[in-house]
Amino acid sequence: MQKSYAPANDRYNTMLYRRCGKSGLHLPAVSLGLWHNFGFLDDFENARSTIQEAFDLGITHFDLANNYGPPAGSAEENFGRILKMDLKSHRDEMIVSTKAGYYMWEGPYGEWGSRKYLVSSCDQSLKRMGLEYVDIFYSHRPDPDTPFEETMGALDQIVRQGKALYAGISNYSPEQTKKAVKILNDLGTPCLIHQPKYSMFERTPEKGLLHVLKTGGIGCIVFSPLAQGLLTNRYLKGIPEDSRAAKPSALFLNKEDITPEVLNKVAKLNELARTRKQSLAQMAIAWLLKDEAITSVLIGASSPKQLADNVGAIQNIRFSKSELQEIEIILNQKT
Ligand SMILES: NC(=O)c1ccc[n+]([C@@H]2O[C@H](COP(=O)([O-])OP(=O)(O)OC[C@H]3O[C@@H](n4cnc5c(N)ncnc54)[C@H](OP(=O)(O)O)[C@@H]3O)[C@@H](O)[C@H]2O)c1
Repeated sequence: MQKSYAPANDRYNTMLYRRCGKSGLHLPAVSLGLWHNFGFLDDFENARSTIQEAFDLGITHFDLANNYGPPAGSAEENFGRILKMDLKSHRDEMIVSTKAGYYMWEGPYGEWGSRKYLVSSCDQSLKRMGLEYVDIFYSHRPDPDTPFEETMGALDQIVRQGKALYAGISNYSPEQTKKAVKILNDLGTPCLIHQPKYSMFERTPEKGLLHVLKTGGIGCIVFSPLAQGLLTNRYLKGIPEDSRAAKPSALFLNKEDITPEVLNKVAKLNELARTRKQSLAQMAIAWLLKDEAITSVLIGASSPKQLADNVGAIQNIRFSKSELQEIEIILNQKT
């Protein structure tokens, strides 16, 4: 059993905070996501220590979704417990987000983008976390069958009801983003932030989305910045038993993704990181933060140690032209 927790007094001394688009809100350059490692199947005390370490290092933003676990909902429940135990008196120092969009419960109202689903799901999330409101509520993915007016109308309603302070979208294409942003603006609840997948291995946001966000004054928080652990030293000597790729629940990263071609690139990137006196995880995060339009990099961590390593990225987010060129050469290598 852990002792009672008191946050570090120097927690705001080193973290960088960036303005989220043209809003009044600042987010830490590194935020913590609870997709993996915080559910009922995970070690609760490890999850709790990781959140404490995050808060001590100036991470004020914690990202959840209705379906995080497993089982779905359990990350929110555990987070609620940890909040109550350790951070109750610090709620106003924290930005908590959650989302609805993916499958959550059976029947026609348990996924996608209807008003019925988003509003019910938000109520459920608040209950699981024991919160009166979340700071950001997201539409987790666009729904091809529901008018955007309805999905955005639900976000606007949730904000007006005081259940969320800001609205966000995730996994929307550039065109879908423009449409959603216009509707939200017209409703008077501007889109605060977009959450796309972006890393050295996943460059889609460079093909239009980042431009839409920059010109629209919308914040950008990027997920899976380490390609779920590939862009670290985790898999350089095989697949560790306790790694995401080895877990039976690994639906999103599996052993087949860790090919010799990928490992060859990772090893070369690891060497380059060493010349910058960074771990590969730190270089991968810094590489995203070099662009000021990236408000925050949303990492996952399976231990306080990984989390601390990742936060160390902020100590050097500058790249020389030749380093950037070398990274592109490595990423584009075919063998
Ligand atoms: N909006 C969406 O649709 C969406 C989708 C996915 C994720 N997200 C959000 O983004 C967050 C982050 O996603 P992610 O977990 O895929 O991010 P990630 O940072 O790319 O991967 C995290 C994993 O990388 C490994 N790792 C992290 N730091 C490390 C280090 N310093 N050294 C070695 N290995 C390290 C750990 O894997 P091991 O477990 O193997 O140790 C960790 O669980 C999620 O929690 C969620 O909040 C959003």
